[in-house]
Formats: sequence, structure tokens, C-alpha cells
Amino acid sequence: MSQLFSPFRLKDVTLRNRIAVPPMCQYSAIDGLSNDWHWAHYAGMARGGAGLVIVEATAVAPEGRISPACLGLWDDRQIEGLARIARAIQAGGAVPGIQIGHAGRKASANRPWEGDDHIPEGDPRGWQTISPSAIPFGAHLSRMPRAMTLEDIDRVRADFVAAAQRARAAGFEWLELHFAHGYLGQSFFSVHANQRTDGYGGDFAGRSRFLLETLEAVRAAWPENLPLTARFGVIEFDGRDEEGLAESIALTQAFRERGLDLLNISVGFSTLTANIPWGPAFLAPYAKKVRQATGIPVASSWGIHAPEVAERVIAEEAMDLVMIGRAILADPHYPYRLAQALNVERPAWVLPAPYAHWLQQYRM
Ligand SMILES: Cc1cc2nc3c(=O)[nH]c(=O)nc-3n(C[C@H](O)[C@H](O)[C@H](O)COP(=O)(O)O)c2cc1C
Repeated sequence: MSQLFSPFRLKDVTLRNRIAVPPMCQYSAIDGLSNDWHWAHYAGMARGGAGLVIVEATAVAPEGRISPACLGLWDDRQIEGLARIARAIQAGGAVPGIQIGHAGRKASANRPWEGDDHIPEGDPRGWQTISPSAIPFGAHLSRMPRAMTLEDIDRVRADFVAAAQRARAAGFEWLELHFAHGYLGQSFFSVHANQRTDGYGGDFAGRSRFLLETLEAVRAAWPENLPLTARFGVIEFDGRDEEGLAESIALTQAFRERGLDLLNISVGFSTLTANIPWGPAFLAPYAKKVRQATGIPVASSWGIHAPEVAERVIAEEAMDLVMIGRAILADPHYPYRLAQALNVERPAWVLPAPYAHWLQQYRM
């Protein structure tokens, strides 16, 4: 019996299996509005059999977009298109999730296939970025951010709350706060990005404060019976990993006490000096550590697509959910292929009936 294809319940939400599509930016929006590209993309992936489909990083404020082509939820006008997407995900049999975030000092960049670098200063397509401290990321993202004032911090926290409310109005049932990948939340926690001397920097408590306050504010606005999750880089691979991981575990414990339901474990990506040991499921040992130390359910991604690997990380209780990104971009029906490879007997558990009936009958 496959563990990967067993259902997963979190609060009042039940996923048909343990496979989730992680958020993946499409860089295809205008003014933060979704369009037919996004609709077809998300509908297709939901039909392909994943239990959960999380819509890409969606900015809580215009200056929080990674690129000018990122989705947004800072305006009520952005609700309608996302509501259509949430309904399409549901029609495919998956639970509709969305990631909301603020890109901080990595914002105002060109699309990956158009350079992936900061839009030059003075170019009207770009904007002034903000971050805990006036320290640029470096290399291709060298634009100098403005250090956030306390008013900025209050405003961005309120932006997260308003975006969460709009996400709910659009029908999403699973919310992921983007606190990872060197964007704003991760930057507050990172010693590489945060050198503030006020209550939002310095020691562990100071560097945790923005994340905890934002989580608390969103939790108060997001329905108690629906999963509130976060993506966070628990490790940077910057040579300070033992201390960093211990801090991440303490932060996760604090998240849990404030009502976080699941942590999506990732890498910090806060520094160019990181030495990341890429490889199949390389984050599984860290996910397991956080899960065991805190008792919080966890998900993770990065190279977990091979059938035996995906099955193993669930069976070994390293994680509760696997996030499979690029393999599903290549083949939206990849979860069905996994079910076949793992000899799951009833593909109807994986695909919606209008597909499952025929594929089962003809063993395709
Ligand atoms: C096209 C693309 C866009 C991505 N956008 C996001 C994003 O919006 N938010 C995020 O947290 N991660 C993003 N990621 C990272 C993925 O969520 C995922 O962690 C990564 O692809 C590794 O999983 P995989 O090895 O299964 O592809 C993106 C990855 C890709 C390939």
C-alpha cells in the first residue's frame, strides 16, 4: 500500500494524496492580474492528480513583486481571476492553495528568461526595493534597498492580512506565507540581510519578530478551520548551519504556538556564499529533524520526483507531503505516472473520473 497515495487531512481540508504542486511563478501577469495562461496552467496541473495545487508567489503589495509580471493580491480587482483559478483547481479534484509574499530586496527584477537580474535604476519598469537593512543581495541582484521604517513594517504586515482576506474571498482553502528564498520574511530572519539595531533585528527574538507578528496577524484573519502554512528556509548552507538550524527549529516552535499548521521546508537563499549540496531529496534529513523536534507537519521539495524517492520520504516520515515542481511542469499528469510506477491499484484515487475511467480501462 503506497503511503504517497494515502489521503492527508489538515484541519478541515483533506488531500486525495500526499503530492502537492509547489508555488511556481509564471511571470505572465500584467498589473498583478491573472489571465488565461494562469487559468489553463493551474487547471491542467489539478487534473493531473496532485492533492494540492499552490498558486505561485502572489505579491501583497506592488513593490513586493519579484518582477513586474508577478501576480498580486493588493487590490480587490485581483480577486476575480484568482477565484476562477481556485474553482478550476477544485474541479480537477485538488485543494486550491496560494502563496502570498513580498520579495523585499530581490524585487524589481527581470524575468528569469530575460536576465533574472535587477531592472536598472532609472528604468520606469522598476521600483525602489525595501528590506530590513540597506544591504543589497549582490551579483545580479545588486540594487540597493531602502531600510524599512517602523511604518513600513506595520504597512507590510497589514498588506499580508489584506491579501490573506482576498485569498479567502477568492475561495482558496490553503494559505502559504512566503517566508523563504531570501525574500522579505527570510531577510528579516537572516544575519546576512538584517543588521537592524531596533526591535526587529539583532538577536534571535529581534530577527524573528516580523515573521511572528505577521503570522499572528494573518492567523487572526484566516479561518481557524483552514490550513495556514508557511514556506521558510530552515538552512542556508553558509557554514553556520548547526546554529542556523537550531534557530530555525526554535522559530518553527514559535510558529506552531501561534497557530501555524504546516511548514514547507526550504533553503534560505539569503547569501551568495552558500554551498548547497543539490541532490535527490537533499532537504529530507532537515525536514525530518524539524518535524521530529517540533511535531509540526512538514512538506518539502527539491528533487523529490523519482517514484521510490517520493514514496520513501513519506514512508520514513521525513515529511507529510511532497512538493513536486518541475516534473509536473514537464508532465502535468506526473502524479498519475507515479501511481502507475508504484502500482497503485485504483488510479481513480489520482485522476478525475472523466480521465480515470478510460485510462484504467485501457491500462494507459
Ligand atoms: C518556474 C519556477 C517558479 C518557481 N516559483 C516559486 C514561487 O513562486 N515560490 C516559491 O516558494 N518557490 C518557487 N519555485 C521553487 C519551487 O516551488 C520548487 O521548490 C522547486 O522547483 C524545487 O522542486 P522540484 O525539484 O520538484 O522542481 C519555483 C520553481 C520554478 C521551477
